[in-house]
Parts: sequence; structure tokens; C-alpha cells
Amino acid sequence: MAEPVRVAILISGRGSNMLSLVRASRAADSPYQVVRVLSNVEDAPGLRLAAEEGVATWTRSHRGMKRAEFDALIDAELRAAQVELLALAGYMRLLSPEFIAGWEGRILNIHPSLLPLYKGLDTHQRAIEGGDTEAGCSVHVVTAELDDGPVIAQARVPILPGDTTDSLAERVLEEEHRLYAEALTEYARSLR
Ligand code: GRF
Repeated sequence: MAEPVRVAILISGRGSNMLSLVRASRAADSPYQVVRVLSNVEDAPGLRLAAEEGVATWTRSHRGMKRAEFDALIDAELRAAQVELLALAGYMRLLSPEFIAGWEGRILNIHPSLLPLYKGLDTHQRAIEGGDTEAGCSVHVVTAELDDGPVIAQARVPILPGDTTDSLAERVLEEEHRLYAEALTEYARSLR
């Protein structure tokens, strides 16, 4: 069997999607391995979770740096670790066009809406306020436009009467964990 695809995950916070991707990579037939977790937030709770899973972490605050300058640091770390594929998982910072161009077709993201609906923030609130009966999550390939690249997987959940943003977010998050691991597995397999 070919060597597993070398994946890095970028986070800024809690890291529950990151954890689910790391755990899925432990399956005997996984086509990917997680070689780094990187964060632009030095006290992101997800960093500790990654370390507990035995994954090497890298962190540096972006504060006071130009976007392209900070992204160049990330790029250097990824190249040094021979990373082949990047998964954004709650990475709350736009990536510079230069960075994205250097990783064309090699960055995936999970977004908590049924794209192309509700790009950006506050997706659940907007779905509830819009009177939608369904919400969900999408995995897409990252391009220079925010939350805009080709969608490769999507999962739907109902919006129930009385849902709050928290109750809906929880229902969607459960699907995110399953969907992202499946989509990354399939995508990594397609690269081998
Ligand atoms: C998830 O809802 C993800 O879709 C969004 O940010 C949240 C990150 O949560 N992009 P976590 O850090 O993976 O727990």
C-alpha cells in the first residue's frame, strides 16, 4: 500500500473537528496520517488535545504581523514537515492568496452551513432567522474566495421548532465530525 498522505490541520480554538480527523486516521486502512497541528492562537484548547493524541504541534500568534508574512511562516513549517494536504478545522483567519496559490487543490475546510448558503460567520443564527427547515455542514476545497471553493461533501440536519443557535450547532457539529473524516479520507485516497 502507498504511504499515507501527510496531513496538517490548522485550528484556532476548541479543536473538536481536528480530534475527529486525528482519531479517524488511526483506522488500519486510513489513507492519511496527521503529522502536525498548527494554530495561530497560542492557548487554543485544541493544541493540548492534539498533544495528548501524540501529534506534533506548532503555534505562533499572528498578532503584529502582515497576513502574507504570517502565512509564510506556516508555509515554511508545512514544507519542513513534508505536508501534502491541509485541513482547516475552525481556523478563524483568512489565508493569503499567495499561500492558497501555493497549495492549490490541497486545502480542505469544513463550514457549518449548506454552502453556498451562509458563507462567513453566524451561520446557525442566520439559518434560524431565515426560517429554514434544514441546516448542515459542507466540506469544500479552499480557493481565494471565502467559503467558496468546490463542495466535496455535505450533510443535512433538520431545524426543529424551539431550536436555539446552541442546540442547532450541537446537532450540526455531530455531523461535521463524521462528514469531515469521511471526506478527508476519500480526498486523501484520490491523491494516491
Ligand atoms: C466548526 O463548527 C467548524 O465548522 C467551524 O468552526 C467550528 C470549529 O469547531 N469552521 P472545532 O474547533 O472543530 O471544535
